[in-house]
Amino acid sequence: MLPWLTALLVLFVSSLYFPFHSNSHVLLDQARSNASRILLLTAHPDDECLFFAPTVLALREHPAHPEIFSLTLSIGNAAGFGEVRKEELSRSLDVMGIDQDNRWVVDHPMLQDNMTLEWDASVIAVVIAPYVVDNHITTILTFDTQGISSHPNHYSLPFGAWDLANILRAKAPEPTSFSVPRVFSLVTVPLLSKYAGVLAPLSSRMNMILQRVLNRFTQSDGNQQAVFTSGFTQYVTAVRAMQKHTTQLEWFRYLYVTFSRYMWINDWVEVKSLGKN
Ligand SMILES: *[C@@H]1O[C@H](CO)[C@@H](O)[C@H](O)[C@H]1NC(C)=O
Ligand SMILES: *[C@@H]1O[C@H](CO)[C@@H](O)[C@H](O)[C@H]1NC(C)=O
Ligand SMILES: [Zn+2]
Repeated sequence: MLPWLTALLVLFVSSLYFPFHSNSHVLLDQARSNASRILLLTAHPDDECLFFAPTVLALREHPAHPEIFSLTLSIGNAAGFGEVRKEELSRSLDVMGIDQDNRWVVDHPMLQDNMTLEWDASVIAVVIAPYVVDNHITTILTFDTQGISSHPNHYSLPFGAWDLANILRAKAPEPTSFSVPRVFSLVTVPLLSKYAGVLAPLSSRMNMILQRVLNRFTQSDGNQQAVFTSGFTQYVTAVRAMQKHTTQLEWFRYLYVTFSRYMWINDWVEVKSLGKN
């Protein structure tokens, strides 16, 4: 029993200390891996550090050196703090290491921060098109259709990104001569795992080891899900970025950064089709 417990403890501590990533290449443009240009598409100032920090911080250190961009589709004006929140976002992105020339915030009348408002996919597609095309974006990273927190602004985003990808695909004269971005969604996990916080890296690492063992038996390549996990340093960076959002620092945010899985782990799946009925 004791050796097992010791092994578990070592695994636990090491999984907190070292960041680890599995299938990270899935997100990169493999043929031109040095030329990956990755856009993080968010809805509000603070999404970048509350949900996406493990990925952004991992990509920043990735050996393929992808260029990282950030596009936020509202200034988060639901409570009237929009102008201040724009500044907070800028300071947060400074902490997360996204270049000043690579980040934008949009304030569009049809894309306003609102808890009850779904954003129109075609409006999103039109608004993001120039940023994607002009910057030769190869990969768009955004929420999935559950939006982590079920915020309608969040879960509208994959539909908009997918819409744009389809428009560009239809326009591309031939697949190789025109960059059609691939779209990836951050996976919304069930409620209980969402607040596993610091335990999440452990269970994720166990899962990966198990997966590797299973793959050996089944000769498969495993799933094509990319996972980014923060180590302690990255976690602290994400918390520092969150602290720049001073208008958002209410007591429940502290609970969130303490217990949320998304402060430690991001799982990604590629969007291959999306339809709204
Ligand atoms: C990317 O760049 C590195 C260093 O410049 C080089 O060693 C590597 O082969 C390049 N990879 C590709 C796929 O071009
Ligand atoms: C949010 O949207 C709803 C429905 O469109 C609207 O009635 C409400 O006034 C909006 N709230 C804010 C804060 O803009
Ligand atoms: Zn948000």
